[in-house]
Amino acid sequence: MSDIARFIEEMPKAELHLHIEGSLEPEQMFALAQRNEVDLPYDSVEAVRQAYDFSNLQDFLDIYYRGMSVLQTRADFHDLTWAYLTRVHAQNVTHTEIFFDPQGHTERGVAFETVLDGIEEALIRARDELGMTSRLILCFLRHLSEDSAQETLEEALPHRARIHGVGLDSSEVGHPPEKFARVFAKAREAGFRLVAHAGEEGPPAYVAGALDALAVERIDHGVRAMEDSALVARLATAKVPLTVCPLSNLKLCVVDDLAAHPLARMLEAGLRATVNSDDPAYFGGYMTENFLAVQQALDLDLEAIRTLGRNAFLASFLDDGEKADAVARFDAFAERFAQ
Ligand code: HPA
Ligand code: ZN
Repeated sequence: MSDIARFIEEMPKAELHLHIEGSLEPEQMFALAQRNEVDLPYDSVEAVRQAYDFSNLQDFLDIYYRGMSVLQTRADFHDLTWAYLTRVHAQNVTHTEIFFDPQGHTERGVAFETVLDGIEEALIRARDELGMTSRLILCFLRHLSEDSAQETLEEALPHRARIHGVGLDSSEVGHPPEKFARVFAKAREAGFRLVAHAGEEGPPAYVAGALDALAVERIDHGVRAMEDSALVARLATAKVPLTVCPLSNLKLCVVDDLAAHPLARMLEAGLRATVNSDDPAYFGGYMTENFLAVQQALDLDLEAIRTLGRNAFLASFLDDGEKADAVARFDAFAERFAQ
């Protein structure tokens, strides 16, 4: 194995862009379908994998929402989250910030608390048994109405201490950030940290809109910001973190080829980019696979990998003290590796 591949495998990692429902592997989808007596439109695990051939974000989302219908009980949400946590623990992920889509569950009659209790139980277990830190971020589905997002925020408020932030995901084009300005203002007043998907399929104006209308601290994806040089300068100056997801961008045809991925140019432009997996069960890789694929495709050097890995801890929602410790541990790893 090359030195750089070994560095990627061994380095302590933080993941900042992970939809827990997108970590549902086909094997687990089948097992939960059986446990809950849910009919799936697939005959086998192989048939599920074959259906994962997407030409855009909506193609994926249609299958993603269908897949999550097997998640019904607190135990299901625990088992889903625990499976993700143990997998990435084995990849040296020490901190993870997890998105969940409550509207994808409450719309089907699953209680908000069932979802939250199950996910949280696994996060506490990962803290106690694996020493992992985590944050939970509630995402509003942007294809649904402002009212629906508002109701979801109301449901979250009694659990404010258990949910660190709010974000915005699902079908981007036609659902600009401005649609959710009032909901995000309320979330901000309630003390939630704010992020939003922007510039995945949507234009650079949606990235600016997320900063201006929603006052988000991080942009999820943001790759299309590269089409607007003034916006790139703004993101660089303000050190806005971007949670980039290379294999997701490839699978959803945001880029035709990983060799054409803008990540190297983003680093050259001084953007605070990070590498993440998005929906690893659907896009063919967790953290290490994303790093390895993009490193090879773009021939990134060790310095670039080090910057990407370190950026994730800097951009995390860890408290200041925890963050300083995590960055120091990352730096100590990199120094040891260089010897
Ligand atoms: N983009 C938008 N919404 C999503 C995604 C994504 O990559 N994954 C899950 N929901
Ligand atoms: Zn995402």
